Amino acid sequence: MNISIAVLPGDGIGPEIVTQALNVVEAVCRKYGHTLSHETAAAGAAAIEVCGNPYPDSTHELCMDADAVLFGAIGSPRYDNDPSAKVRPEQGLLAMRKQLGLYANIRPVAAFPALLHRSPLRRDLVEGADFVCIRELTGGIYFGRPQGRSEDGNTAYDTCTYTAEEIERIVRLAYRYAQKRKKHLTIVDKANVLATSRLWRQVAQTLEKEYSDVATEYMFVDNAAMQIIQNPKRFDVIVTENMFGDILTDEASVITGSLGMLPSASIGIHTSVFEPIHGSYPQAAGKNIANPLAAILSAALMFEYAFGLNEEAETIRTAVSESIKAGVLTEDIAPEGVKPAKTSDAGGWIAKQIK
Ligand code: IPM
Ligand code: MN
Repeated sequence: MNISIAVLPGDGIGPEIVTQALNVVEAVCRKYGHTLSHETAAAGAAAIEVCGNPYPDSTHELCMDADAVLFGAIGSPRYDNDPSAKVRPEQGLLAMRKQLGLYANIRPVAAFPALLHRSPLRRDLVEGADFVCIRELTGGIYFGRPQGRSEDGNTAYDTCTYTAEEIERIVRLAYRYAQKRKKHLTIVDKANVLATSRLWRQVAQTLEKEYSDVATEYMFVDNAAMQIIQNPKRFDVIVTENMFGDILTDEASVITGSLGMLPSASIGIHTSVFEPIHGSYPQAAGKNIANPLAAILSAALMFEYAFGLNEEAETIRTAVSESIKAGVLTEDIAPEGVKPAKTSDAGGWIAKQIK
């Protein structure tokens, strides 16, 4: 197969982890006889520096033409600490999601057996935890308008908006997902307070009848935040709006032992994007210490979702598991007193294992 991918390393640790993911992709392509071509483009703070735009048109065109996008991370403390900045790196990520129509962000959460001891949660709680969070990605408070400040600057506002259509397409996608898994869907909202959540519930309740083979449950987001930690094994598929999904999945990463472990697939209308759920971790940038596994596991999702190459995806996941078992662990997951592996060691080990 011919595989053409756009690579957007972004900011902070993005370039380092994407390099490792790309090495792994190359190793898989060589093993299975695929022809890989890839091109790199700027996004985030890196792109603002070059052209003032965190998601330049040229980057968008490259993404549109590619079969899949491998994305690193976006964000820079230079902007985080400057509330008056007119352009922010994160706007690039949001523009990319919007312009590519990536309305569904799929975040699988599963405990790696060899890492159970790294989770601050009790082993018996996390062992066997395996669920998928489906986060709506192009609506809600991230994109609602108006957003801004009053003239005197002393009042700020964001707007949360959802249309029935936006809700229906993501909830349908979640149902189809649940049908392929344990047929249990949890719809997370705040319908006791928010009008948008009440529309979510109304739309979901009409769809519920169409998917009667799936058990549907509704849960308020505050309760969900507690149950994800208290009893993660009770979940199979979770679907929720943009910001709730953002928050709940960082929380869920605690189950896997590190935020550096969770991959994601963003899918929708145009080219799909594969991105770790973690941020740009600027304190670690250039130090070769970041965990490349979320990026590498995102590459596995790419083979599966963008190309239907499940064996290739499984090969990556197996090599990742083996690297963990072999103790090739970056500092976020290495046991105390053991010398941690560098980013490039962990990625290199996995690429070599695949070869
Ligand atoms: C994520 C990130 C982004 C988000 C940030 C960087 C804008 O936290 O992908 O989860 O909030 O969506
Ligand atoms: Mn996030």
